[in-house]
Amino acid sequence: MNQIRPKRVDTMLDLASYPIKHRIERVALVNNHAIVDWSDGRQSRFHALWLRDNCACPTCRHPQALERRHIFIDEAEPRLASVKIGATGDLLLTFEPIHESRFDAGWLRHHCYQDWARAERRQPLRLWGSELEQHLTIVNYADFMETDRGLVTWISALMRDGLVLLDGAPARTGEIQRIAERVGPIRYTNFGVIFDVVSRPNPNASADTPMGLELHTDLANWDHPPGIQLLFSVSNDAVGGDSVYGDSFKVAEDLRREEPEVFDRLTRQQFDFRFHDDSCDLRARGPMIQLNADGEIERVRFNNWLRSAFDIPESEIEPTYHALRRYWLRLRDRRNQVRLKLKAGQMIAVANARVMHGRDPFDPNTGYRHMQGCLMDMDWVRSRLRLLERE
Ligand code: OGA
Ligand code: ZN
Ligand code: ZN
Repeated sequence: MNQIRPKRVDTMLDLASYPIKHRIERVALVNNHAIVDWSDGRQSRFHALWLRDNCACPTCRHPQALERRHIFIDEAEPRLASVKIGATGDLLLTFEPIHESRFDAGWLRHHCYQDWARAERRQPLRLWGSELEQHLTIVNYADFMETDRGLVTWISALMRDGLVLLDGAPARTGEIQRIAERVGPIRYTNFGVIFDVVSRPNPNASADTPMGLELHTDLANWDHPPGIQLLFSVSNDAVGGDSVYGDSFKVAEDLRREEPEVFDRLTRQQFDFRFHDDSCDLRARGPMIQLNADGEIERVRFNNWLRSAFDIPESEIEPTYHALRRYWLRLRDRRNQVRLKLKAGQMIAVANARVMHGRDPFDPNTGYRHMQGCLMDMDWVRSRLRLLERE
């Protein structure tokens, strides 16, 4: 008969390091839970099922792949048989059916599921209006390219504000690719890897005209729009063409408070978006304001030139136009906008699920305006930050 062999491991098989800021002072076994009292007075209650499921010994987790092997449904309901604090401050457990586990105190604290612990781990967004113009994070190109600190500052600002400016790069084509790859892989879309934003004779997109672009999110016509847009200014000499940014989450939160029916409609009503040219016909449908299971805003899709004809019940047509107008008018309010003119060698990054971008019209007869852009997934950005924090 196969029996799970108890095994001791010396490290939690997890790549991140978990600095132990708080020690385990006491542990008790109550009602199939390990009750842990921490040195800062906090208490965690860990269920036997959860502990057994998360055992990181080499039997339960593959020691090289670092992925879970233990399949909890294949085992009878585990009972905690004993709990104690090990010599190095770890939590040592034995279970029935027989199994021994060792949990690193730092790991446990970092993964504790008590409300207070989950609240501690939340990374708050800084919602903004035009006042961000005064404290927009600007990162120097050399710091970004050559120092971990520069990169951490850039990523942290992008995650907090959804907007960060890079300054002082060589104003040359292709530079954006080197910058992007300092963070992670670029996402290939219908616009290719790197796309040029210039006024052209036969544009296949509104961006490639001298028209102004209202605030929008990019690729609203994709099921999963890219989380980040980078836009690098190679040359910006034409009259006009200033950049405009808006925090769609902030404006949506204003709506939620002040016009709840409008907010509600934009979270429930489905909108269709489409981009099509000779080589593709890409469409997606979704709410303008997408909420997660906790009711928090997780994504906004807003793009007037990609928006398709409403395909909704007749009774919804008028109220939907009303709701869209109310949101849009607030977004257009100067108090909700940050404006700047991207100098050659500057690059803006926006968190595309949240921060909208746009530009004023420009006159191509007065000078040359050339931007290069690319898109990335936010997963790579978060991953990069975790790798930097591991060191
Ligand atoms: C785009 C875009 C803005 C600009 O290419 O998606 O919004 O400043 N460009 O040209
Ligand atoms: Zn195990
Ligand atoms: Zn755009």
